[in-house]
Amino acid sequence: MNIALLSGDGIGPEVIDQSVRVCDAIATKFNHQIKWTKAITGARAIDEVGDPYPDQTHEICENSDAVLFGAIGDPKFDHDPSAKVRPEQGLLKMRKKLGLFANIRPTFVFPSLMDRSPLKKERIENTDLVFVRELTSGIYFGDRGRRDNGHTAFDTCTYRRSEIQRIATKGFELAAMRNKKLCCVDKANVLESSRLWRETVQSMESQYPDINVSYEFVDAVAMRLIQWPSDYDVLITENLFGDILTDEASVISGSMGLMPSASVGEKIALYEPIHGSYPQAAGKNIANPLATILSAAMMFEMSFDLADEAALIRQVVNKSITEGIVTQDLAESSHDKSYTTSEVGDYLVEQILS
Ligand code: IPM
Ligand code: MG
Repeated sequence: MNIALLSGDGIGPEVIDQSVRVCDAIATKFNHQIKWTKAITGARAIDEVGDPYPDQTHEICENSDAVLFGAIGDPKFDHDPSAKVRPEQGLLKMRKKLGLFANIRPTFVFPSLMDRSPLKKERIENTDLVFVRELTSGIYFGDRGRRDNGHTAFDTCTYRRSEIQRIATKGFELAAMRNKKLCCVDKANVLESSRLWRETVQSMESQYPDINVSYEFVDAVAMRLIQWPSDYDVLITENLFGDILTDEASVISGSMGLMPSASVGEKIALYEPIHGSYPQAAGKNIANPLATILSAAMMFEMSFDLADEAALIRQVVNKSITEGIVTQDLAESSHDKSYTTSEVGDYLVEQILS
């Protein structure tokens, strides 16, 4: 396996280091060879070469079987609205150039962490849903600009039927492997692009007779997601709605430091934690590495078809949580002692190899 390793900014390098150790332990246990190739992205790449997603990094990604990604973002850019190049542009460019049109973001709960969720236990029990967010089109990539000497600004949301079809196909296929429920999230009572989404998904329904398809408006989903998250199975939605709803969904589990994601498309796939670069914690060895490690589990499963390897990672992660071998974000309320990022890695590696 050739894996491109993009650790990025902030806590990215620390959580990636532990994921590499866990993947290497899995490789030892199951007799695989992993070749890691490091490449730069984000603020670090801007500092070094002036581009948050340099061509050389793209080449390394294209020539790999999968990409494991940490996080990008640096406060020095957030406080400067006039900055011409931003780390986030690297992420968007990477998604577009690698053709990663579908972002798969699961939300599930760990029974031992129910009390960490801001929602009541009876609301979140059995929550196991997946968002399939469109990632390379819509308002993120449409025409934008200023008119009126800069006094008017616009961003446009454009979707082609073929773009909706390919993301909906991912949604239908995923639902077929899960609980056979697909929810198309849109704003078809107002937006023309949403009406095309709805029309396109409706026209595909007959190809998937086993799937129970529902259509809900995005504002209602925002509400129902925290009322009855366990009602949902697979949700498909356009880029911006998906950005917002997946952040909302991520807190259901109790910590942003737990949820993994995969971005898939035409060829290679990219795996990353859903949390950001958390600059305040960078270099302190306190960040929770589990979301990145669970992203690596998704990688074994989805890019290499190695379900046992993925299952073992999930099993040791679950064990670390129930045993209380966790970083401070999870330790504070439910356990007395907390462990460092690398101590959590030590524990996982030891469990895998035992
Ligand atoms: C995400 C992030 C990105 C997005 C930002 C950093 C550009 O919020 O991956 O959800 O909006 O897609
Ligand atoms: Mg987001």
